[in-house]
Order: sequence, then structure tokens, then C-alpha cells
Amino acid sequence: MAKLDVDMVKVGQVREATFFPNPHADSPFPLRATHLDGLRAPKVVLTDDARIQAGVPVMVRVEEVTKPKRDDRGIIRVAYARPAPFRLEGVWLDPMVARKLQVLLESGLNILLDGPQGCGKTTLVRAVCDQLGMRFVFFNCGAVIEATDFFATIQVRASESGAPVTDFVKTDVLEALEEARETPDERFLVFLDELNRCPESARNALMPALDATRRVFHPIENRFLAIPDNVQFVAAVNRGRAFSATFGLDAAQLDRFAPLQMGYLPPAEEVKLLRRRHPDLGRETIETLVAIADAVRGARELGQGLSVRATEEACLYLAHPLMEGGGERMIAEVLKSSFCGRFDGRWDDVTSDAGAVWALVERVLRDRRES
Ligand SMILES: Nc1ncnc2c1ncn2[C@@H]1O[C@H](COP(=O)(O)OP(=O)(O)OP(=O)(O)O)[C@@H](O)[C@H]1O
Ligand SMILES: [Mg+2]
Repeated sequence: MAKLDVDMVKVGQVREATFFPNPHADSPFPLRATHLDGLRAPKVVLTDDARIQAGVPVMVRVEEVTKPKRDDRGIIRVAYARPAPFRLEGVWLDPMVARKLQVLLESGLNILLDGPQGCGKTTLVRAVCDQLGMRFVFFNCGAVIEATDFFATIQVRASESGAPVTDFVKTDVLEALEEARETPDERFLVFLDELNRCPESARNALMPALDATRRVFHPIENRFLAIPDNVQFVAAVNRGRAFSATFGLDAAQLDRFAPLQMGYLPPAEEVKLLRRRHPDLGRETIETLVAIADAVRGARELGQGLSVRATEEACLYLAHPLMEGGGERMIAEVLKSSFCGRFDGRWDDVTSDAGAVWALVERVLRDRRES
């Protein structure tokens, strides 16, 4: 591994480092790093800055380099400068959305991710948790019928005598809220997926958890549970067609979140992503699929977006030996199900959405043939 020269480390510089607890327990510096900007540091990097969290990459300012002439002595003392930029493995994120998301995550505000179906909302939040060392708590609101469903489910079982007994079982959300109180050093991200899908009344009951009240009713212990500061809520909504349709959240509910809009990744990025995942499939084929998907996503008359799952599914088909050798005709056949099949109607019914998608498939294939 390359090593930084001590002359290159100057007071005032900002560099990236990841700290871990200092094994020398008697040191005045509780955190230690061995690398700066991914290069081996010429001296041990130490900090006593409480804003720095172990295990989380961070940008630090060099405050002092002691004993620069000695190889075996001296330290590089640093202080917190700002969070490290997101570097999300395998996930593309618009750079401005990335910055906003970073600010919001630092602020602790509730976040509402608003983006068309399959644009990577869930994937993104999971990756963010990995990078920031936060605990990811997934909850699908689509299955919620009443308010208590957020926190407990009722399960019926037979008792020893055979009579039915009902048990309350805590949901992952309730488990996380309780655990967060026990482990204040850990950060929890509660992901409320498809928040727009649960009934209005259930959503309303969640509101005190999301505003300054920050408490929820514990349905098993019949008491209020305060939500600790190390819990942050991120909700996702999916309003069919990108940003046009309404999504059911009323203004008061919406106001408790900082909204953040996401879109599909740009075609060039989607090609890169699919090529990484399907290295055996030719570039030409992937570019064609993405060009068609882009046309479908841009068609205003269609009532919904087209998930990246759809382009992935098409790649999966086309990479299979059973589908080999069909060229453009095979792409069209696959898209009858993978693209058209995700819309209302049938590919051969020109009056339906699926038929409109089919027309786009044929048009893009023709355009590419002619160009
Ligand atoms: N920007 C992206 N970067 C990397 N992968 C992506 C991206 N967008 C979509 N994908 C891929 O597309 C698939 C669907 O993504 P994901 O489930 O995160 O979407 P979503 O927005 O949560 O969808 P839904 O609205 O249906 O909940 C995943 O396989 C994911 O890897
Ligand atoms: Mg999702």
C-alpha cells in the first residue's frame, strides 16, 4: 500500500480518515486512524474530537504534526472538518440529491424520499446505512391496516389446553425504538417504505412520532414510549408517474418531513450498472434496452414509471442461453413481458398502456436500426 510522505501532510489540510478506538487506553486521544485519503499515514493519526464517530469515514483538518523528522515518533493531530462524501457501493445517486441527503441525515430531520417505482429508493437507504454505520430497520407500510400495526402484530396460537391465546408480537420498528434507548451510541434509521399505501388514519396515529412530541403509544405495555434522538425516520413514497400524480399524504403529514425527490438514473449510468451486473451481455443489447426504457419513462401519456427491475429482468432473460441468437427480435419478445407486461392492458392492444409501450419498443428498435 502506498504511503504518504510526512512532507505532504501540512497543518490546515483537510483529508479523509476513518477512526477506530485507540488501543492505548491511557492516551488522551480516544480515536486513532492509520490512513489519510486511503494512503498509509507517515505517523499515527489521533483525535479527541467528540464529533468524530468510530468506523465512519470523515473529513478531518490537520492541526499539528509533531516530530516530523523522526520515523518512529510523533503524531498527526486532527479535528473534525465535515462528513466524508457518500461513496455508495454499486448505487448511483444524483450529486445534488447526495449532498442534500447528507445534510438531512446529519440534521436528524425526518426525510421523505419521493421517486418513481424502482428508481433505487430502498437500495439507496440501505447503502447509506452501510456507509454511515447506521442500523437499517425496514418496515413496509403497505401491510398496515390500523395504527397499532406499526408497533405490534397480533398472533393467535393454541394454548396447552387447546384454547386459543392471542399474543402481541413486537414489530421491528418497536424493537428498534426500545433497543435505541439501550444503546445510545448506535444510530438507527427506520425506513417506512410505501408510506402512502397505508390508511390515512394509521398514518395520522404515527404523526406524534414524527413531530416534536417524538413519542408513540406502546400497544403492549399500554404506555407512551419516547423516541430517542438516535432514531431517524426515512419514508419512501411512490406516486406512480414521476412527480405528477398526488400520493395521498395530506399537507400536515407531508410537512413533518423534509421531502427529497429522486429520479431514474441517467441512461449512461444505467448502462454501466447493467453492464457490471451482466458482463456477458453485449454493450449494444444493454444500450438498446436502456434506450427503450428511457423512452417509456419519458412518455407523459403513461400513468407510471418503469423500474430498473424491468431492465434488469430483460438482461437476465437475454443473457440466458435459451434466448441466444435472436438479435433484435429476441429483445422485442422479451420486452413484451418485461416492459409491456408491467402496464395495463396487452402489448397487442394499441388502445392500452401496454400497447403504447409496445409502440415505443418498435419505434426505438427501428430508430436504432436506421442510425
Ligand atoms: N440509482 C440506482 N443505483 C443502483 N441500483 C439501482 C438504482 N436504481 C435502481 N436500482 C436497482 O433497481 C432495483 C430496484 O431498486 P429499489 O428496490 O431500490 O427501488 P425503489 O425505488 O425502492 O422501488 P419501489 O418504488 O418499488 O419501492 C434494484 O435491483 C436496484 O439495485
Ligand atoms: Mg422500495
